[in-house]
Amino acid sequence: MKHLLTVLVLALVMANAFVAASPRHSHDVKSRGYKYQRQKGVGRKVKGNGHSTSAPPPPPPPPQSDDYDPHSRTFDITSFGAKGDGVTDDSKALQAAWRAACVVPSATIKIPSESKFLIRPIDGTILASSQLGDWSKSTLLQWVNFKWLNEFTITGSGTVDGQGSAWWNMTQDHHHPKVSNCIHIKMHEDRCYALRFYGSCNVTVRDIRILNSPQCHLKFDSSEGVKVTNITISSPGSSPNTDGIHIQQTQDVQIEHSDIGCGDDCVSIQAGCSNVHVHNINCGPGHGISLGGLGKDNSLACVSNITVEDVSIRNALYGVRIKTWQGGIGSVRNVTFTGVQVSEVETPIVIDQYYCNKKSCKNQTDAIAITGVKYKQITGTYSWQPMHIACSDSTPCTNVDLVDVQLSPSSDSASLHDALCWKSYGDSKGLILPFNIDCLQRGNKLFRALESHKYSC
Ligand SMILES: *[C@@H]1O[C@H](CO)[C@@H](O)[C@H](O)[C@H]1NC(C)=O
Ligand SMILES: *[C@@H]1O[C@H](CO)[C@@H](O)[C@H](O)[C@H]1NC(C)=O
Ligand SMILES: *[C@@H]1O[C@H](CO)[C@@H](O)[C@H](O)[C@H]1NC(C)=O
Ligand SMILES: *[C@@H]1O[C@H](CO)[C@@H](O)[C@H](O)[C@H]1NC(C)=O
Ligand SMILES: *[C@@H]1O[C@H](CO)[C@@H](O)[C@H](O)[C@H]1NC(C)=O
Ligand SMILES: *[C@@H]1O[C@H](CO)[C@@H](O)[C@H](O)[C@H]1NC(C)=O
Repeated sequence: MKHLLTVLVLALVMANAFVAASPRHSHDVKSRGYKYQRQKGVGRKVKGNGHSTSAPPPPPPPPQSDDYDPHSRTFDITSFGAKGDGVTDDSKALQAAWRAACVVPSATIKIPSESKFLIRPIDGTILASSQLGDWSKSTLLQWVNFKWLNEFTITGSGTVDGQGSAWWNMTQDHHHPKVSNCIHIKMHEDRCYALRFYGSCNVTVRDIRILNSPQCHLKFDSSEGVKVTNITISSPGSSPNTDGIHIQQTQDVQIEHSDIGCGDDCVSIQAGCSNVHVHNINCGPGHGISLGGLGKDNSLACVSNITVEDVSIRNALYGVRIKTWQGGIGSVRNVTFTGVQVSEVETPIVIDQYYCNKKSCKNQTDAIAITGVKYKQITGTYSWQPMHIACSDSTPCTNVDLVDVQLSPSSDSASLHDALCWKSYGDSKGLILPFNIDCLQRGNKLFRALESHKYSC
């Protein structure tokens, strides 16, 4: 999706969250922030998290306005002293604007597009409020939201801590308004995010640590030119539904040199993604690297040119997985998994065209065509089944190739299952272990895949 992204506006939606800027080089998180709640249309100051050891400096007062409207609270970085000449360090101005914006709900920090701002790494920890009551409905989707950015980099040794444990503990409580809304959102294949980029171009996220997000940690949507490098994402394995990096409708993505451990997918590649290169990352625990689920509710999904290279996946349910719902249209083409080292992974290689996260799903004829999937040098240990490829009866998978795939049972696996190949065509080369993995049908039935691609993507 090629948006016109010339406006450089940084929109931080973090109502009711508070910023705790810890002193540089200190490991103690001392809250100097305040938490504000909206009451009868007025920003009301409430006490911070109680950890403050010294009197916090008063934050700049929010602009005065008689007609309170959370959406009109815009903080221009230049009115906080930013020079915008590309040379002067404007970090302090951004910090000041950020602090001021945190005082009111749904604030926006404006960075005028005609200037260049040099923002140095801002040390410190940004904490999302752990109080569920502090999350308003409109801010439920994400607590830091960047929109329509062009050539933007987030870097620094700071930590973004989503403090999500209150969420994980409450996922059973469907009646809690926040939780039920979140579950509702999830059912629409959306999630609650710690950090989200929307409609952005050439964005880099590097060196940061993201911990304990309520659900997903880092999301890129409708963007182009994304680089994620040297980041750490970590939530306890017990946290449900926490994806590491989630990308959707986004092209030209590079994810590299990072450690990602979450309860759900390590990297989740969704509809509309192409030219994605994931390399040199460590995943686990969780559900490994996923394409999909694609094609839910008969939707169109096109995914192509995906390379996953030199990754290590440990202690996970799956290794590399492609999952599509019955009834979808579109295609998955040209996907290569190479140099994947698995360790204690239940099922390292999965293609599931019958994906269903309910008890049962209606059988449907339409299917997203899957063609050109290569597995090269997939090695390590599995604890359930080495490979599970279940393709559609009407649209078999074609050009599925295995090259040097060597998997062995992990020491503590109680029961092992043979590999499954269903309606999948392809070839194998090199050493293939265990031998039952060599179950692909030879020859290719290209017509249906090509037809599907021609008319849909
Ligand atoms: C969530 O549950 C865990 C384990 O029971 C507990 O340690 C943690 O404090 C809880 N978090 C919140 C915010 O209630
Ligand atoms: C994004 O970066 C690429 C490669 O450096 C460049 O060709 C492209 O023009 C950039 N896009 C925008 C909108 O700046
Ligand atoms: C990676 O990020 C950490 C901070 O989280 C930093 O100390 C380290 O130098 C970075 N490594 C590289 C190669 O940039
Ligand atoms: C996939 O890669 C090929 C070859 O580099 C290129 O021609 C094609 O446009 C790419 N597809 C997309 C959707 O970018
Ligand atoms: C497949 O995708 C890769 C990038 O992931 C690209 O370099 C290559 O040219 C593509 N091949 C085809 C046939 O599109
Ligand atoms: C879908 O088809 C499979 C295989 O033919 C069958 O076992 C299953 O019961 C069907 N499911 C439904 C919901 O009709």
